[in-house]
Amino acid sequence: MLLGVNVDHVATVREARKEAEPDPLRAAELAIRGGADGITVHLREDRRHIQDRDLIAIRRKVKKVELNLEMAATDEMVRIALKIKPDMVTLVPEKRAELTTEGGLDLRRGRIKLQKAVAALRGKGIPVSLFINPALTDIKISAALGADMVEIHTGLYANARGAQKTAELHRVKKAVMRGHENDLGVNAGHGLNYTNVKKIAAIKGIRGLYIGHSIIAHSLYIGIEKAVSTMKSIVESSSR
Ligand code: PXP
Repeated sequence: MLLGVNVDHVATVREARKEAEPDPLRAAELAIRGGADGITVHLREDRRHIQDRDLIAIRRKVKKVELNLEMAATDEMVRIALKIKPDMVTLVPEKRAELTTEGGLDLRRGRIKLQKAVAALRGKGIPVSLFINPALTDIKISAALGADMVEIHTGLYANARGAQKTAELHRVKKAVMRGHENDLGVNAGHGLNYTNVKKIAAIKGIRGLYIGHSIIAHSLYIGIEKAVSTMKSIVESSSR
């Protein structure tokens, strides 16, 4: 199971002062040293954290592990992705006022835009993943839209308590199975931390986990390399 580390928060701290530090590229390099199998950046329309120059610098240096570009399915972002050529793109919904991505894509409403973006990216050889809620119909629509992969939104599982948490975990498991039945690569992410990741990593057939906040938060105490290696060993031991 791959561990993709999202370094957006490093840029968030830098943008708080508009200084040169901390540098998301340096963080990405240290995350890779700690065992990250991939680096994720989300280039937002409002450029609130990652800037275009970060994406260019990270693409230039991150070659041995997967660079995953999270983005909205807009013409501007598709143009940038085709130029930068990340190893994969994850299409996400984007709202200006949100603190973080709040849920999976609305595949019905966004169908035409998504289909266009998927075709343009895949046409140039960039694999595309769709960030979706763990709903079985969304898996089917993702396959119909021509996506290579989906990323199952684990936020509801992460936030739920008690019996509801068990129910949400079950929804994620069913979505993973349905993804495979539809020949999709299945990833998962959002809200995963050093504790709740264990049950998700234990689900068979998940290709990769995409984690940001908990790793970057932990890295303030113990450094990013160690924060990543700790998460990596939890994922490895839970997925065995
Ligand atoms: N996957 C997607 C599609 C996301 O938008 C995010 C947040 O940027 C993550 C995973 C990582 O979520 P978190 O920061 O809660 O680990």
